[in-house]
Amino acid sequence: MSKNFEVLEKSLREKTGSPAGTSGLAPAGLTAQSALVQPASIPPRFRLPDDVAEEYIKLKTNLVMAKGSAPLKMLVVTAAKHGDGTTSVATNLAIAYAADATHRVLLIDASFHRPALHRVFRFPRDPGLTDLLVGEGDFEEAIRPTPVPELSAITAGRPYGNPTRLLESERLAALLAFARERFDVTILDASPVLPYSDPRVLATKADGALLVVQANHTQIAAVERSKRQLVGMGARVVGAVISRQRHFVPEFLHDWV
Ligand SMILES: Nc1ncnc2c1ncn2[C@@H]1O[C@H](COP(=O)(O)OP(=O)(O)O)[C@@H](O)[C@H]1O
Ligand SMILES: [Mg+2]
Repeated sequence: MSKNFEVLEKSLREKTGSPAGTSGLAPAGLTAQSALVQPASIPPRFRLPDDVAEEYIKLKTNLVMAKGSAPLKMLVVTAAKHGDGTTSVATNLAIAYAADATHRVLLIDASFHRPALHRVFRFPRDPGLTDLLVGEGDFEEAIRPTPVPELSAITAGRPYGNPTRLLESERLAALLAFARERFDVTILDASPVLPYSDPRVLATKADGALLVVQANHTQIAAVERSKRQLVGMGARVVGAVISRQRHFVPEFLHDWV
């Protein structure tokens, strides 16, 4: 694994004590909530227990401080397979950035095969990303403010047959350039790497990719293979994040589990 990957992995693993080979952003047990960890402006539905929120803040800090060629302003969150926790991690990480009051954040649903952000935020699915990529709808209309201050989201848009083709669109480059200009951080909730090629393509357009690893489930060989595929395309894999360390489901996910 690359140096960066190891650094992030090590810091998270030490904190959570998770087994070697997986790393730990561990959604842990419920604790009392305090405004110190998450500002009161975060609506109750999107709040996390303090210890979980703290792990996301640490992850965000690691990403902000990460050494490397470019600051990580645009991140793809992906995993080996469906169900590993990509949407949960992408959403909670976006909230952690937005909550620190120094970042304007855009969260984009690029998980074309099983989109979910429209349900997380109770938004209509379109107009969204696919609509923008085929030239329907404008950016301003598709970028919706969420109930979390400083966090906007683009939902998935109408189903479209071939996402990888869509990613070749000039409009994607224009959208990402617009996002970079307008927002401090853009997080893309992407499809899993092993079944599909579109997350690999997407990851090359971002500054880094985060791999979500499902605790006690994802095989390290699958993580390594996913990482090789991303790196093989020229993406920078900046770390691994463990999900589902214990049985905790954030409240906003109850709507659609
Ligand atoms: N920390 C967690 N603990 C328990 N269940 C979780 C946790 N994170 C996610 N889940 C559940 O796991 C399922 C998959 O999570 P999701 O974030 O949608 O994964 P993906 O986007 O990779 O498919 C969802 O039903 C979600 O509610
Ligand atoms: Mg998802």
